[in-house]
Parts: sequence; C-alpha cells; structure tokens
Amino acid sequence: MRIDIITIFPEMLAGPFSFSIMKRAVEKGHAEIHIHDLREFTTDKHRSVDDYPYGGGAGMVMKLEPVVACLESLKAAVDYDEVIYMAPDGILLLQSVANSLSTLQNIIVLCGHYKGIDERIRTHYITKEISIGDYVLSGGELAAAVLTDAIIRLIPGVLNDETSALSDSFQDGLISPPVYTRPAEFRGLSVPDVLLSGNDKEIREWRHQKSIERTQARRPDLLNENS
Ligand code: ADE
Repeated sequence: MRIDIITIFPEMLAGPFSFSIMKRAVEKGHAEIHIHDLREFTTDKHRSVDDYPYGGGAGMVMKLEPVVACLESLKAAVDYDEVIYMAPDGILLLQSVANSLSTLQNIIVLCGHYKGIDERIRTHYITKEISIGDYVLSGGELAAAVLTDAIIRLIPGVLNDETSALSDSFQDGLISPPVYTRPAEFRGLSVPDVLLSGNDKEIREWRHQKSIERTQARRPDLLNENS
C-alpha cells in the first residue's frame, strides 16, 4: 500500500514512521510512505500556503492553488483510491474505518492548518474526511500519523501471528482482556491461576469473559452497537 501525506510541516512526520512496526513495514515493502512539502507547490516568492478569509474573521485559510498543484502532480503518476482530509469534523476514525482503508492500494492524506482549507478543496478534491476524535489539534499531522499507523498495522504480513491485529481491542467489538508476564508473584500481587494452568480451553474462556466484563465496565456503548 502507498500513502502520500501532504503537509506544511514534513519534519513532523519523520519520527512516527521511523520506529518499530511502521519502520519494519516500510523496510519489508508492505507500505510506502511519501511525505510532500506543500510549500514546494507554491509559485510566489514567499511560498505562501495561507491567506485571509473572504468575509473577514479571525485566522487564516489554506490556499487552494498549492494543494491542487500537489494533488494534480501526484495523480498524474498514480491512481488513488481516496483523497483524505484530516479534519475534526470528519467521520470518526474507528477500527472499522481503518480496516476498510487497509484494503486499498493508494491513498493521499492531506493535513490541514490554521482555520482550515478553502472549502472548494473539500467539495471538489477530497473524497473522505476523517477525524481522530472530538478535540481540535493544531494541525492534521498528528492525526495523519495516527491514521497511517492504524492502517499500516492491518496490512497482511505487517504483524506476525503473535502480534496479530485480530486479537486487538475493537476488532471483535470487545476490549482486549488483561495480560500478564513474569514474575508470577510480585510483592504479593499474583497472576490469575488460570493463566498458569496450561489449559488452553479454560484460558480462552477466561479471556473472553474478561473481555466482556471490561467492555461492560469501560465501553458499554460497544456492546449496544453489536446488539
Ligand atoms: N485536525 C485538527 N484536529 C483534528 C482531529 N481531531 N482529527 C483530525 N484532524 C484534525
């Protein structure tokens, strides 16, 4: 899968993909991440990417021309399945959204700033708008990094059996059960006996039961969604 991220702060996106699972996914060729500096697509000497809003008011608006120039140059070389804009008023990034995006070949992710982008980009060039939660970030970069991580770990081959995304919280509509590792006893705090029993069937049942209890206690909305 190929993900092209358009940003005015390319350095912000250097870190998140240089470690652990994301780094390995890129090295192994499961994912290609291309970061594009929007200022490279400006034509004025100040390399300006924003301007005052028509009608007045506080804050600046991201200009149409550099974004369109960047999108057109990308689209001239690659067929994209989606052009995504990270925005607090987009659809909420749920596991189901990440699952479906992970099946695509090529996507563009546009990071916004200031008061947002010229509405004509949203109506004519963007195919999907995604929010990572009901709060406002200073820009779309961190949200784009979250989205990219959530998608890439789902690409077949990126995770191995032990870390399989199938056992993630939310994947089956439930929160994951608690996990423990050695030592079995720490200052009087012990690991549940069943996990030390070696009985696979009982362990599976215990984990499922704990998942249900956790979901009931922490996210009862998830149980209602499924019923
Ligand atoms: N840009 C600013 N806030 C955001 C959010 N919550 N989700 C996605 N993009 C954003």
